[in-house]
Amino acid sequence: MNFLEKRIREDGIVKEGNVLKVDSFLNHQMDIRLFKQMGQEWKRRFADAPINKILTIEASGIGIAAVASEYFDVPVVFAKKSKSINIEGEMYTAEVESFTHKCRNQVIVSKKFLGPEDHVLIIDDFLANGCALQGLISIVQQAGASLEGIGIAVEKGFQQGGRVIRNLGYRLESLAIVESMDAQTGEIVFREQD
Ligand code: G4P
Ligand code: NA
Ligand code: NA
Repeated sequence: MNFLEKRIREDGIVKEGNVLKVDSFLNHQMDIRLFKQMGQEWKRRFADAPINKILTIEASGIGIAAVASEYFDVPVVFAKKSKSINIEGEMYTAEVESFTHKCRNQVIVSKKFLGPEDHVLIIDDFLANGCALQGLISIVQQAGASLEGIGIAVEKGFQQGGRVIRNLGYRLESLAIVESMDAQTGEIVFREQD
C-alpha cells in the first residue's frame, strides 16, 4: 500500500452511492505534507516528460496542483467553471457534465495562458466518469498544446473514466485506484500497481 492508499484507508469514509469522502485531508481540510508527497510522486512518475505547465480545474484540483508545481517548477493554470455562454473569442471552452452534481458546466481557460508551445500535465483530485478530464483534454487540444500526461490522486476504478482515457492512449498516473468499496463495512480495495 502506498502513502495515499494508506491515508484513504485510515481517514476516508465510504458513503452510500459510491462516494468516497476525503474531506479531512483532501477536499476540505488539506494536508499539505500529504500534497507534497503526491507532488513528489507525480514528479518521479513523469520525470522524463518535458512538462512546462500544469493544468487543473477549480475547486479541489487547485491545492494539489499548486503544491505539485513546486516539484515541476512550472506555472499552474486552473480552468474556471462558468455558467455564461458568450465568452467566445479569447477563451477556450468545453462542456462538462457532472454526474455527481447532476448539472452541466462550461469550463474556460484564457488563450493567454495556454498555447501550441506548451507541454501540459493535467492534475486533478478525482477521476470518476472522466467528464471533467475530457473537458480539460479538449482545452489542451484546442490550444494546440502537447498533453504529456495526467496525474490523478484518487481514481474510482469501477467507473469508466480511467479505462476510457487509457484506451485513448493518454499517459494516466493515478496515485490510488479504488477497485471497490463498501458503504456498509467501510472496506476499500485498491488496484495493485507497480
Ligand atoms: P467526472 O468528472 O470524473 O465525470 O466525475 P463526476 O461528474 O461524477 O464528479 C463530479 C465531482 O465530484 C467532481 O468534482 C469529482 O472530482 C467529484 N467526485 C466524483 N466522485 C467522487 C467521490 O467519490 N468522492 C469525492 N470526494 N469526490 C468525487 P467537482 O464538483 O467537479 O469539483 P470540485 O469543485 O469538488 O473540485
Ligand atoms: Na475535482
Ligand atoms: Na471534487
